[in-house]
Amino acid sequence: MKTIPLPRTGLTVSQLCLGTNQFGTALDEPRAHEMLDTFRALGGNFIDTAHGYADWIPSAPRAASEHCIGRWLARQRRDSVVIATKGCEFDYRAGFTPRVTPEHLRTDLEGSLAALGTDYIDLYWLHRDDPSHPVEAILDALIAHQRAGRIRHFGCSNWSVSRIQLAQRYAASIGHEGFVACQPMWGLAEPDRAAMQQFAPGGYYEDGYRALHEAGLTMIPYSGQSRGIFTRLAGGQEESIAADVRALYLSDTNRRKLGVVRELALKHNATVNAVVLAYLTSQPLPTVPIIGASSVAQLRESVGSCALVLSVEELDTLRNA
Ligand SMILES: NC(=O)c1ccc[n+]([C@@H]2O[C@H](COP(=O)([O-])OP(=O)(O)OC[C@H]3O[C@@H](n4cnc5c(N)ncnc54)[C@H](OP(=O)(O)O)[C@@H]3O)[C@@H](O)[C@H]2O)c1
Repeated sequence: MKTIPLPRTGLTVSQLCLGTNQFGTALDEPRAHEMLDTFRALGGNFIDTAHGYADWIPSAPRAASEHCIGRWLARQRRDSVVIATKGCEFDYRAGFTPRVTPEHLRTDLEGSLAALGTDYIDLYWLHRDDPSHPVEAILDALIAHQRAGRIRHFGCSNWSVSRIQLAQRYAASIGHEGFVACQPMWGLAEPDRAAMQQFAPGGYYEDGYRALHEAGLTMIPYSGQSRGIFTRLAGGQEESIAADVRALYLSDTNRRKLGVVRELALKHNATVNAVVLAYLTSQPLPTVPIIGASSVAQLRESVGSCALVLSVEELDTLRNA
């Protein structure tokens, strides 16, 4: 896997970022550590977690993913890995009340540092926004943590374009670069906007993020493989698609896209998933997809897909299908 400079950060990251929301829960610790070791061996160094992963499982220990990664990280040279984590998500066990305040940021960040066993986070994400609060207070708090050395850079996930622009304008007014990256939902499959609202209220990349991308914000999107829907459809396994994935992605548009994916897969002698992933890794503007995998074999296949580069015309055909 190639590495690329993450603009405006001085960090160098692998072409793919490894998502870990199932680490320490659905994926037990030995398998999660095997996944991390495999990712490293294949050239990966960029890992995405969150303080709230996977607190939505009532029986799971708090911050299970961070703790699981922390025990693995203890065996690595800290500066050989780029750790991204997130805070200010809802507390899944205490109702869906927004938590985007400096105080929640402080407690979440302290919790992340302890769970990961590190004294700094390379890229810190605000997991969610609370548009009822002005952007100034939360940006000032992020900047204070950055100056104290607890975080190196910060970005936002699930924020709307207009709120990001507001934050960036405020940052510029105080001589700070603000967010260096965004983590929106983005993959080849077009999501159903209503089904998406409950967990990606900030919007889908194709609904307006391009302007931010062109303005210099790196995109580090999640669900970069559209949760495997194209592979399952191509394999004739429609009945095995999980209900939430079905609600999100099963549509005529995505069936049309699959037709184009198949043509390109044939043309390039590549797998369906390789074309899906190349839709992001071939973007002309800096884009580092976060990928999930439920097995080491899937992870190997996805990393192997990085060799495929699609042309701008092919990207347009996929987008417009
Ligand atoms: N910021 C946020 O709000 C947010 C939200 C969601 C996720 N995330 C982050 O993004 C990460 C990835 O999210 P995601 O799981 O939605 O990403 P994804 O990469 O779109 O989907 C992962 C799923 O795709 C399938 N898959 C993976 N590799 C495959 C391969 N080589 N061939 C065929 N199918 C393959 C598997 O489905 P099966 O298991 O069905 O086989 C796997 O579970 C998370 O772990 C988390 O770190 C962030």
